[in-house]
Amino acid sequence: MNTVVHAAIRRTFDRFDAALAVFPVGSGDRAAELKRAWDHFEHELHVHHTLEEEYFWPALAQTDADLSSVAALDEEHDAMRLALARATEGMAGLQAAPTVESLAVARLGFDELRRVLLDHLDHEERDLEPIAAAYHDSKPMRAALNRVKRRHLASMGSTVEWLQDGAGEEDRAGLRSQIPAPVVFLLGAVGGRRYRRRVAPTWVAAAR
Ligand SMILES: [Fe+2]
Repeated sequence: MNTVVHAAIRRTFDRFDAALAVFPVGSGDRAAELKRAWDHFEHELHVHHTLEEEYFWPALAQTDADLSSVAALDEEHDAMRLALARATEGMAGLQAAPTVESLAVARLGFDELRRVLLDHLDHEERDLEPIAAAYHDSKPMRAALNRVKRRHLASMGSTVEWLQDGAGEEDRAGLRSQIPAPVVFLLGAVGGRRYRRRVAPTWVAAAR
C-alpha cells in the first residue's frame, strides 16, 4: 500500500511542478484551482503520515524487528510538517495575489517540501519497507491494518480516487491487492465524487 501511496505523492509533486512552471500570472481562477488541489494533497499527506505514526510504527515496535535504521523517521515527519506548512502558506499567498513575487515564494516553499518529502520517501523505501514487508504477517501489523480499515476505510473515498488518478496499471493492481476491487469501486464511486469535482479537473486543465 505504501508503494501505491508514494507513487501518488510523487505524481502529485510532478503535477504541481508542471502547473507552477506554466502558471498564468494574474489568474486568480487558476490560483484558486491550484489551492483547492493543494488542500486535498495536504490532507492526504497528513492522513498518510498520521496512519504511520499512530498505527504502523507502533505495531512494528511491538515486534522484535531491529528499528535502529529508522529512528530518524519521526524527526523527518516533523521536518516534513514544517515544510508543508510553509508550502501551504506559499500556495495561499499565490491565491491571495497571483503575482510574479507570490509565484516565486510559492515555488520556493513547494521545492523545499518536495526535497524534504522525497528524501523521506526514499529513506522509508530503503530502510523501513524491507522491515515492514518481513513483518507484514506479524500479529501487531495485522491488527494495525485491521484497525485502519475498520476506522478509516469508509472515509477514504477521495484517497482511493487520488491513488488511481493518473496511476499506471501496476499501481492500480497494487491498490486492488490491498483493497478488494468492488470496495475500491464503491469507495471511489461514492466518496470520490468530491475529488473528481474539485481536484481532478485541475490536472486536466494543466494538460490542455
Ligand atoms: Fe512517512
